[in-house]
Amino acid sequence: MRSQATLTTALALVSTVSAFWRMPCRSQTGVGRLDPIMDAGEVSDHVHTIHGGGGFGFDADYATLNARGSCTSCEVTQDHSAYWTPTLHFLYPNGTSVMVQQVGGMLAYYLYYLDDVKAFPAGFQMVAGNKNTRNFTGPFPDTDLSSWPTDPSDQFFLEQRALGFNCLNYAKDPEPSLYRHQFPTKDYMDANCADGLRLELAFPSCGNGSNDSLDHKSHMKYPSLVKEGNCPEGYDVNHPFLFFETIWATNTFAGEDGQFVLSMGDPTGTGYHGDFIMGWESTQFLQDALDTCQNPSGDIQDCPMFNIQSDAIGANCTFPMPDALLNDDVKGPRDGLAVDIPLQNGPQPATQYPVAGRSSVPTSSIPSTTASASFSLPTLSYTAANPSITSTAMGGIVVNKVSIASTSSATPSETDSAASSPTAWSAPSASESAPASSSITEAPSATSGPAPDIIATSYLTSSNQVVELVIEEVDVTVTATPSAAAVAAAKHKRHMHKHLHHAGRR
Ligand SMILES: *[C@@H]1O[C@H](CO)[C@@H](O)[C@H](O)[C@H]1NC(C)=O
Ligand SMILES: *[C@@H]1O[C@H](CO)[C@@H](O)[C@H](O)[C@H]1NC(C)=O
Ligand SMILES: *[C@@H]1O[C@H](CO)[C@@H](O)[C@H](O)[C@H]1NC(C)=O
Ligand SMILES: *[C@@H]1O[C@H](CO)[C@@H](O)[C@H](O)[C@H]1NC(C)=O
Ligand SMILES: *[C@@H]1O[C@H](CO)[C@@H](O)[C@H](O)[C@H]1NC(C)=O
Repeated sequence: MRSQATLTTALALVSTVSAFWRMPCRSQTGVGRLDPIMDAGEVSDHVHTIHGGGGFGFDADYATLNARGSCTSCEVTQDHSAYWTPTLHFLYPNGTSVMVQQVGGMLAYYLYYLDDVKAFPAGFQMVAGNKNTRNFTGPFPDTDLSSWPTDPSDQFFLEQRALGFNCLNYAKDPEPSLYRHQFPTKDYMDANCADGLRLELAFPSCGNGSNDSLDHKSHMKYPSLVKEGNCPEGYDVNHPFLFFETIWATNTFAGEDGQFVLSMGDPTGTGYHGDFIMGWESTQFLQDALDTCQNPSGDIQDCPMFNIQSDAIGANCTFPMPDALLNDDVKGPRDGLAVDIPLQNGPQPATQYPVAGRSSVPTSSIPSTTASASFSLPTLSYTAANPSITSTAMGGIVVNKVSIASTSSATPSETDSAASSPTAWSAPSASESAPASSSITEAPSATSGPAPDIIATSYLTSSNQVVELVIEEVDVTVTATPSAAAVAAAKHKRHMHKHLHHAGRR
């Protein structure tokens, strides 16, 4: 008799960088048309996925995020910073759209690439990327860093290369970070990105000492190699290199006709962007953390200053959704993009469009969305991280070596180490632990539609190296009597479903 069991696969990515830490923010504080930097005090013109401080809203700033009693969805309670990026949607040819499921919240890396990094000052905020950009002026892949201009005056060149669209396939060698700077084609994703797409965003780290500027960008510049190199003249305050990662379950649309579109109507990816409001409890605290937390593990657990909360507590941190947004249908399925935003294919820059709920624009005046494929994207075969490219490649995390830590065979120690890792998810409580089952007959539960395969990512330290464990759920048909390993794996699966449940209550 054939029966089904679910096993876990752990993939270890071994990386080395200078000192850094990695802030996991496993839950959203909300999803909606808010952008207190670019659209302060009003409805934003597109939807964001928002993480971090619960004091978020149309008018969020350093003070509101740090208001007494406010919470954070990140793991370090002293960090009430707000982190946000556009959402990803799938647009069918008939004009129906649905939001793509985000997997595992977000990671915000604080990397020390420049010398003598200085904490963000009080009131600091910044934007990376440009929502209106619709072209990448290539080549692809990037030429070797040694051929890049040493003078960082072409900030558009650097801004384009600060975006990454990482095709996830945990069965293959991973792509480096910031390798591809626009969406792969749908066909390419169907064929290669079995585990979804990771959106990456690097922020500029050369500051001029101001906490903001009129356009919220020009007080910050990229150094000549995006993450390191020379800072432009007058930008001699070295801040940490902030790097956001979010994972989207694009694989759940494999084989479906249609296209992926960022919430501002961008089917190219080149308009990807993100925002940051400094919400650390004080600049001095952040400075002390930067000075003290130099463990190359990047693990926040290794920084004694940090007060760490469980992801379950973080998941309870949400901001009150403003009344003006309560009727927004962001997730769909719905007619047209959320919320009635027009598709703009480029390559010319996108133009402003009327926004429902803002400046009394009637919804009826908003152009309807139609799917189209009139833009061109690179067609390539899957290219994994090539060690010779990777050694000079860009990226927050440069992947040096890959090893498959475990597959479906009897490797309970691997799955145990993943499951017991404190950063993966909180250890299952007694009530969550399922009793060991003697027969593996449980089918993978298809709760609501196709579930993403990626369960979580986790990080372990082993002798000066960071090991990223990507935990994937795999459906396996077993024909034999259940082994101890399979029983153990089935137990893990229940824990993971529990975890997904937490994540799903955003
Ligand atoms: C559009 O197509 C999708 C995919 O086939 C389908 O799920 C959806 O119901 C369709 N929408 C309408 C309005 O027919
Ligand atoms: C940000 O900088 C401005 C100008 O220096 C200053 O007036 C303001 O108080 C700062 N914001 C905060 C929250 O400290
Ligand atoms: C930083 O740059 C912004 C934008 O050009 C400018 O408004 C601000 O005055 C500069 N701050 C300092 C301290 O030079
Ligand atoms: C989250 O909030 C709910 C409702 O207030 C509460 O019952 C629950 O205990 C909270 N969870 C945690 C982990 O604090
Ligand atoms: C590419 O995008 C940039 C920035 O939006 C814009 O200035 C330029 O005109 C675009 N190029 C083309 C060919 O449209």
